[in-house]
Amino acid sequence: MIKIKNLKKTYYTPHSSIEAVSDINLKIEKGDIFGIIGFSGAGKSTLIRCLNRLEEPDSGEILIGEKDISSMNDKQLRQARRKIGMIFQQFNLFDSKTVFENVAFPLKIAGFRSDQIENRVREILQLVDLSDKMQAYPLQLSGGQKQRVGIARALANDPDVLLSDEATSALDPQTTYSILELLKNINKKLGLTIILITHELDVLNTICNHMAVIENGKIVETGTVEKFFSNPESNTAQRFIHILQGFQKKRIFQGGEGI
Ligand SMILES: Nc1ncnc2c1ncn2[C@@H]1O[C@H](COP(=O)(O)OP(=O)(O)O)[C@@H](O)[C@H]1O
Ligand SMILES: [Mg+2]
Repeated sequence: MIKIKNLKKTYYTPHSSIEAVSDINLKIEKGDIFGIIGFSGAGKSTLIRCLNRLEEPDSGEILIGEKDISSMNDKQLRQARRKIGMIFQQFNLFDSKTVFENVAFPLKIAGFRSDQIENRVREILQLVDLSDKMQAYPLQLSGGQKQRVGIARALANDPDVLLSDEATSALDPQTTYSILELLKNINKKLGLTIILITHELDVLNTICNHMAVIENGKIVETGTVEKFFSNPESNTAQRFIHILQGFQKKRIFQGGEGI
């Protein structure tokens, strides 16, 4: 179980301040695929980056299982982060390292022996179906392949949680589905908890079980994904559904078959 209690984060600029995360409380069950959806600027990235303290919260508690992330010192945090994988929209790979070296990187940092690293990297590249690209460089890969490397790297240390910040937003729809399928399989196979930030309804619909809606730094609605589509309560959820319905109508009007 992951618990977020009274989490707050304000950014200060010379002339103003913005409460990007404003008193957020959430509970996420172990093994769940949990979607956090909101429009641009709602505070999604700030929230997810607070979970591994890439962004330092002002106050609040973050509990991952028994571990209290919020109160850890630097050394404890470095250890804990090994068990929190993260993937990004822009993949964040090292362009000058091969696929093998990218995935090996967190294992080297963790101090594994080179034979252990070799075995683990091979195993994990097989899981993401990239065994044949081991010696390729990121620039030689497609967007989908790059994200598979990102996923492999995030999984290298056998994490308890995977955080995904818009990981499919830079990908075309077909590649998006293949990445979402991969995440679904990993969730099933490894029992990994996945927290997924998105502004895409399709992502929520395709793999998430539970969701929270974020609006102006606040959680305004939580529940199952079915509920989001059948009974959207918050302004944000209703706007998302409204945009979807408008899109469907337009398609029918234009002689398409709807989506
Ligand atoms: N480093 C920063 N400094 C100042 N303001 C920021 C910073 N990062 C984000 N913000 C602001 O905080 C709000 C939430 O941003 P963000 O968490 O990136 O939203 P989202 O990921 O939902 O698009 C936005 O208004 C954004 O402009
Ligand atoms: Mg963002």
